[in-house]
Amino acid sequence: MYANFAGCSKFNGKVNWLKMSWWQNGVIYQVYPRSFFDSNDDGMGDLSGVTEKLPYLKKLGVDAIWLSPFYPSPLHDGGYDVANPRDVAPELGGLQSFDQLSKKAKECNIKIIVDLVPNHFSKEHPWFKQALLSEPNSDARRLFHFRDGKGNAGQFPPNNWISLFGGPAWTRVVEADGKPGQWYLHIFDASQPDLNWSNSQIRSDFKETINFWLNRGVSGFRIDVAVGLIKDMSYQDDPEPQLRVDAMRLDLYDPENPQRSDEIRKWAKDSPLFDRDEVHQIYQEWRELFKDRSDDVFAVAEAWAYPVERAMAYAKSLGQVFNFDFMIVPFKSATLSQTINQLIAAANEYQTFPTWVLSNHDVSRIVTRLGGGELGRAKARAMATLTHFLPGSIYVYQGEELGLPDANIAPELRLDPIWEKSGHTQIGRDGCRAPIPWNSKLPNRGFSKASKTWLPSPADWVVEDVPTQEADPSSTLWLYRKLINLRKSHQLWQVPIDQVSASVNGHLLVVWRAQLGVCLVNTGDQPIAFEMPCPMQVLVQSNQLKVEMDEKAISVPGNTAIILEKVSTKT
Ligand code: GLC
Ligand code: CA
Repeated sequence: MYANFAGCSKFNGKVNWLKMSWWQNGVIYQVYPRSFFDSNDDGMGDLSGVTEKLPYLKKLGVDAIWLSPFYPSPLHDGGYDVANPRDVAPELGGLQSFDQLSKKAKECNIKIIVDLVPNHFSKEHPWFKQALLSEPNSDARRLFHFRDGKGNAGQFPPNNWISLFGGPAWTRVVEADGKPGQWYLHIFDASQPDLNWSNSQIRSDFKETINFWLNRGVSGFRIDVAVGLIKDMSYQDDPEPQLRVDAMRLDLYDPENPQRSDEIRKWAKDSPLFDRDEVHQIYQEWRELFKDRSDDVFAVAEAWAYPVERAMAYAKSLGQVFNFDFMIVPFKSATLSQTINQLIAAANEYQTFPTWVLSNHDVSRIVTRLGGGELGRAKARAMATLTHFLPGSIYVYQGEELGLPDANIAPELRLDPIWEKSGHTQIGRDGCRAPIPWNSKLPNRGFSKASKTWLPSPADWVVEDVPTQEADPSSTLWLYRKLINLRKSHQLWQVPIDQVSASVNGHLLVVWRAQLGVCLVNTGDQPIAFEMPCPMQVLVQSNQLKVEMDEKAISVPGNTAIILEKVSTKT
């Protein structure tokens, strides 16, 4: 059981450190700007709102913020329908607000990452408007994927592909003569026409966008739908269009049933729509642009690819890839151990560093996913403690540090297109996007003084606001601050990756770090005793439960994580 534990001395072997950049071990905080803080009380969060809250983020200790799209957008997909990628929506404060944020963030030593959305534009982008006004086969149409329909009158879509939000991936347009005409491709909402990446104009336009934001001081990019840009241009019917889409759905993947999951995910391979080899050529060119500036500029790919080496290929071309496995892993020692070992092994093999993600704007918040209520929160706190013990970088989604659960948004107020498109069978993602509860004594819990906000802060949402948590050292906010702080003070990230390994002892997950100590996570309800191989002390515990401990053993309470540090430095 102690096989991977380098004795009881502090690690003093020679480590061949890879030259690390800040992003390989940073804590990056995801801001969903429209729901973060509304500085001018019009009901929508804005960039000045982010600037106002920089002291809060500074105190939390994050290295960078990743801003979800703040671009002009008709908001058919929460801003991921971009009408102009080189501007800031006027209701979010315009470019001036961005520059102000960038300046102030720099003063706080917080870097900025922006979201790049290369798979599609909004139908409000001038290029798409122009394409609609232009002839079939014109240059304007060749920026997108326009095709004639099948059937005598072109009345059927060009092929049988399905949108990830449900329904056909094609929409028919009305031509200038008022008659139904060609069809265009959209793998998401019909308001998000896919771009044609075989067109060099698209390639140069995105390079211009990248340079535009680099010139404004950003340190990196999050690449939306990084697997989607290149499609099989022969447009054949797919024998299993629904299975192709299901293969991309995180919520259908079950780490406890690998066989079933492999069944679903095998359709991600050789897909006409996703993860095609040629996409990496685009990213390698972008990487050159980044390197021209500095090694400290990077991109992180949203790339749910299968098997793991296909996902790692994105880290190789762009710098980093999100590992979404922690967003779906159950709170069970055996599955957690397997997941950690797999990710560490993959990172090691591909000479990259892992990323750890517990939640984002596309999935249920972790407290809710792990069952909700106090127990869900206890498990989420244990997961956060574990995550901060692991090497690599960490992404924290706004409100995660407050232990927020999902909000229940009333059906008539839901905005996510998934709700409508799925015929009300999938609730959609609004619940994790409710505005941050800055102060429950104020209207809209302190998010905005407007009478109506773009998404509500529902009255039945059970949350602890920021002042309550500030005043309580046992709060989730304090835990996150402590964990982020510890990552720095104890250089928790700085570890030869091959010296991290997980094992299990019934419900107890044991993660070894040769150099430092151990993280114990009890995923059961009853306390479990753990025999310490050498004297250790508690660095941090995910909750306030009383812990029995002597020189030899520690009893870990249920649903609790504890990080223990070796105390002896003598051999
Ligand atoms: C990404 C985003 C998601 C969006 C989709 C389409 O998956 O994270 O929010 O709906 O891309 O742009
Ligand atoms: Ca506002």
